[in-house]
Amino acid sequence: MDERIISNNLLIDDEVDATLRPQLFSEYVGQDNVKEMMVISVKAAKLRQESLDHVLLYGPPGLGKTTLAQVIANEMGVNMKSVSGPTVERTGDLAAILTSLEPGDVLFIDEIHRLPKIVEEILYSSMEDYVIDIVVGKDAGAKSIRVDLAPFTLIGATTRFGDLTGPLRDRFGIVHKLEFYTHEDLQNICRRTARIYDYPIEDKAVIELAKRSRGTPRIVNRLFRRVRDFADILGDGVVTLDITKLALEKLKIDELGLDSKDREYLIGIIDKYRGGPVGLETIATSISEDPRTLEDVYEPFLIQSGFISRTPRGRVVTEKAYRHLKKNFQGSLF
Ligand SMILES: Nc1ncnc2c1ncn2[C@@H]1O[C@H](COP(=O)(O)OP(=O)(O)OP(=O)(O)O)[C@@H](O)[C@H]1O
Ligand SMILES: [Mg+2]
Repeated sequence: MDERIISNNLLIDDEVDATLRPQLFSEYVGQDNVKEMMVISVKAAKLRQESLDHVLLYGPPGLGKTTLAQVIANEMGVNMKSVSGPTVERTGDLAAILTSLEPGDVLFIDEIHRLPKIVEEILYSSMEDYVIDIVVGKDAGAKSIRVDLAPFTLIGATTRFGDLTGPLRDRFGIVHKLEFYTHEDLQNICRRTARIYDYPIEDKAVIELAKRSRGTPRIVNRLFRRVRDFADILGDGVVTLDITKLALEKLKIDELGLDSKDREYLIGIIDKYRGGPVGLETIATSISEDPRTLEDVYEPFLIQSGFISRTPRGRVVTEKAYRHLKKNFQGSLF
């Protein structure tokens, strides 16, 4: 079957599309401050022939935390093992992974804020002294054996910095926050993606896609793939501005990148709560959405683009949002 037809499968997402993942700092677009500091940390560790200090990366989904972790491991020239916090259920699971690491290796723990407490506790000594204490035997016969580990680098990723416990946070020598990407960065990512997939794309289409991607590389790649489907079916495989606009309209992505869920959220607060302030739980219930998803996935971009603000009394929709949604703004009610 033609590869382009296979690509129409909606299930194919960037998660399984390893070809798009930058492998080196030179391919990792944007995040200039973080990148610059990481380049220095990596060079210094290599110069001293030491393992890199533990790294914590945080920020909204899809901004490239997992990608950056892999880039760091590649640049260090070491292997990376990956696990996700909630899947490491027992201390034995983590112990098995830790003892399998070679000197300098990277252990990547995604969603590190969701590690069970008992598992997190054995991370402390492993991060600090490269040792773990394993309890063997039961009851009266139980004893603790100390096991040495190879010096390794823990890279933790989280969308919720605030949910990390103090002791865990304090054990990371390097902590970086990833920011939303500029339109220019997203244009570069989009061009790179089009090149990798070998699709011609008009400059204006690149600009349009970047503008509507919520500052997020995962989204620009996802939109590109959907638009590419339209280009194949309705056009001749060239991603033009017209086809891009049509596809985005069908996907209900507006000029600023808001999707139907964003609009439902904003209009919900406007119509039901006169623009707020309203508590997160209340608004989540009223639009049948999980409050944590709203907080992690939707709100960061809405805050960043000035559509809502968080106040001690709850979320408030801004005048900018009213204007964008063509709603009548009555001014602050409090
Ligand atoms: N700096 C970048 N340059 C180019 N492409 C990038 C960059 N960052 C991310 N991407 C692309 O975006 C996709 C999503 O990035 P990634 O999976 O690393 O995000 P994440 O921050 O780990 O998200 P999550 O919080 O959901 O785990 C990657 O597959 C990659 O193709
Ligand atoms: Mg990730």
